[in-house]
Amino acid sequence: MDEYLNMEVKEVISKFPEAARVLDEYNIGCTVCNAGSCLLKDIVEIHSLSSDEEQELMAKLARVVYPGRDVKVLEVGRKPKAKPERVKYSPPLKKLVDEHLLIKRWIALIPKLAESLDVNTEEGRQLVLQGVDFIRTYADRYHHAKEEEVLFKYFDENLEILKTMHADHEKARSHVRSILQAVEEKNGEAVKEHLNAYRELLTEHIKKEDEILYPWMDRGLSLTQVGELFSRFNELEEQFQTVPEKYEEFIRKLEEKFR
Ligand SMILES: [Fe+2]
Ligand SMILES: [Fe+2]
Repeated sequence: MDEYLNMEVKEVISKFPEAARVLDEYNIGCTVCNAGSCLLKDIVEIHSLSSDEEQELMAKLARVVYPGRDVKVLEVGRKPKAKPERVKYSPPLKKLVDEHLLIKRWIALIPKLAESLDVNTEEGRQLVLQGVDFIRTYADRYHHAKEEEVLFKYFDENLEILKTMHADHEKARSHVRSILQAVEEKNGEAVKEHLNAYRELLTEHIKKEDEILYPWMDRGLSLTQVGELFSRFNELEEQFQTVPEKYEEFIRKLEEKFR
């Protein structure tokens, strides 16, 4: 069975058309994927089946591939708690994943920033305000706008997973408002509390997007939609001109400061 697990789905299906029906039973819609270039073992992995379902699916596929033979069904090669393999994103979603990298660098700086923070000094307050400017301009207007105004519109926004993502963005905005208010009131503890809450929220949010939402979206998008998304993102980026470079520089300097 291993030789088929390492084969592209379209090849497996072309050799064994019945395999498409078996995969469909588990909502693994490879038959509608134009490319079909994922490896069979990878698509089983990404659909996060329970181990019982996975065993059952592999047994059914083995029966298709080796009819009439008593086949020993092997695990797909993943260890129970192993990290998921690197996901291959479509070009527009890869842009978003790359933007997460800069946001994660900012998130990683928050503990040190909070630790050394003194809101009673002009310098301390300015530092927080610069961080808020990064969140509002880069993370929210530049990145979250691509998600909310473009990407999410390709899907049913009443879906639970999208409602959760919208709610996370709103919660993040609310923490930013609280940070600004706390700076105004020179309340250092409240600034730290909301900075840390923002950090926890965005850490989980980005993980959900990178590991679950985007791979799921990529599975649902047609090749035409992927191309359309990519050019719409490019158009949006044109409105932001030097924003990515400016904030990359801001994060780099902050990393130097807190090294
Ligand atoms: Fe998001
Ligand atoms: Fe995001």
